[in-house]
Amino acid sequence: MCGIVGYIGKRDSKDILIEGLKKLEYRGYDSAGIAVFTDHGLEIRKSKGRLAVLEDKLRDEPIEGSVGIGHTRWATHGKPSDVNSHPHTDNSHKFSVVHNGIVENYLDLKEELAEKGHRFLSETDTEVISHLIADEYDGDIVKAVQRAVKRMRGAFALGVLTEYESDRLVAVRFASPLIIGIGEGENFIGSDIPAILEHTRNVYILNDGEMAVLRRGSVELMTTDGEIISKEIFHVDWDLVTAEKAGFDHFMLKEIHEQPQAYRDTMMGRISEDGKSVDLKEVEMTDEQIKAISKIHIVACGTAYHAGLVGKTVIESLARIPVETDVASEYRYRSPIITPDTLVIVVSQSGETADTLAALREAKRNDARVLAITNVVGSSIARDADDVITTWAGPEIAVASTKAYSSQLIAFYLLGLYLAQVRGTKTQDEITEVIDAMKQLPEQVERILEQSDIYKQVAEAVSKHSNLFFIGRGLDFAVAQEGSLKLKEISYIHSEAYPAGELKHGTLALIEEGIPVISLVTQEELYEKTLSNIKEVKARGAHVLAIANAGSEAEVGRSVDELFAIPKTLPILTPALSVVPLQLLSYHASLALGHDVDKPRNLAKSVTVE
Ligand code: F6R
Repeated sequence: MCGIVGYIGKRDSKDILIEGLKKLEYRGYDSAGIAVFTDHGLEIRKSKGRLAVLEDKLRDEPIEGSVGIGHTRWATHGKPSDVNSHPHTDNSHKFSVVHNGIVENYLDLKEELAEKGHRFLSETDTEVISHLIADEYDGDIVKAVQRAVKRMRGAFALGVLTEYESDRLVAVRFASPLIIGIGEGENFIGSDIPAILEHTRNVYILNDGEMAVLRRGSVELMTTDGEIISKEIFHVDWDLVTAEKAGFDHFMLKEIHEQPQAYRDTMMGRISEDGKSVDLKEVEMTDEQIKAISKIHIVACGTAYHAGLVGKTVIESLARIPVETDVASEYRYRSPIITPDTLVIVVSQSGETADTLAALREAKRNDARVLAITNVVGSSIARDADDVITTWAGPEIAVASTKAYSSQLIAFYLLGLYLAQVRGTKTQDEITEVIDAMKQLPEQVERILEQSDIYKQVAEAVSKHSNLFFIGRGLDFAVAQEGSLKLKEISYIHSEAYPAGELKHGTLALIEEGIPVISLVTQEELYEKTLSNIKEVKARGAHVLAIANAGSEAEVGRSVDELFAIPKTLPILTPALSVVPLQLLSYHASLALGHDVDKPRNLAKSVTVE
């Protein structure tokens, strides 16, 4: 997830681009840059760091011109650095590109272009696009872009300039958002409406496979096949704050709704085209090293730790490697038995959590191999780990983690499958079955999100209580722990997550008339046992709400007070679905109680102290 902007008009483009990028910093902020046509040709200024660093650079090395493109980056391919920042250019410096998305086949294209003499400076997929367009150019930038995008696989929104045709700005959308702002004598592009809202409220929203050719006085819309199309102008009547949240009331709600895309992005390029295998190029362990792993430690904090609890079951059941999970702040002090054939997996959205980083260093001191699952390329944890699986969830702004957690689950599924392939612990049919079911997850989450309102009603009822329980067995217990944390941190309602079968060993004493008990009942082979535990709490007056699989209404429904069905998937994958109702429940409970959903009290997004 990155932010792109573009301007063609009569005004100086620099300030318009910078202001636009400021509104898109929520999409990424590890580096920024702009390219502008000046009297000397196409000039680029870019730098690692927040936009303020670029602004300082522009004060020292100003550029002026009325056509330009800009970018704020959330690193995907290549760490945050000046050279990896956008805009990118080709060897002739006549073409410039800003890009949001991922080009899956960039390595093949890079190799082919290198053979033709193209020389690359960065590690990015985007640089390959600028070379590809230059290579395809024969006097018409629109046709060159059309030919280039036909050769690219993946997701992209592009802004393209060439010095040869300085009166045109070309924009393309393919599975990454892009809008065109229509002004008077000037036009704009942006990843999102806030980027252009200061200048115009009239926009075209591009669909996948559509492109726009902007001149000062016109916008021509067409498909990437060159067929001219017309579109209705969308008039934006949101204020800026609403626009930044894409119309959602809070970043948390927006991020909950971004999960289908985060799942797709995290899977993209990691599943073979025939859907039969997982390829984790970023894991550089040899097959021999993978086969030699004798045990795995998963170490993380908070929500990331809860993803690790799911990861433990996933890896143990797919790859049959014993896994221990630890809260990072405890790991070092229990003197863990780490041997050179231990794989330590650290999980961290931010990649900066001090406790997790300390655990990583402890593991390295003991010669273990460390694999990080993180959402931030170039973060401290990503830099220090031996292997990194990046979750492509994009920046998470709300303090309560949602899309990062669920993308971590996707990363664990991919890793579990990959280890299983190498170690031969699953048959081809079993692997294909899991991959097929994973591909359904984004659409299944969309179906849950369509029912967001029912969780609002439940949340309003729940918010009247000061105590409640989440129960479940197996993977349901792992998700229950995340549901309980989410509720606590943003609604400040006390809750406890308990293994359903363990209540009777003490905690049952706390169950009294009317107390809500949220039960996760998705693991078919445990239905009977969990239902017995549900009967135990119901007999003591609890009000039982169940999150259960569609199709289980008859069996589960008769033992609970309310049932909320989620689409059916394989038992191992249910956490990626069952967590969504719990996120919605916490969100609406927090709202019902009038709390600051995105910035709950006492908490920070990134915890860099031990
Ligand atoms: C809760 C939450 C925290 C983080 C924890 C670790 O919603 O966000 O519990 O999960 O502080 O943070 P990262 O994943 O950045 O290491």
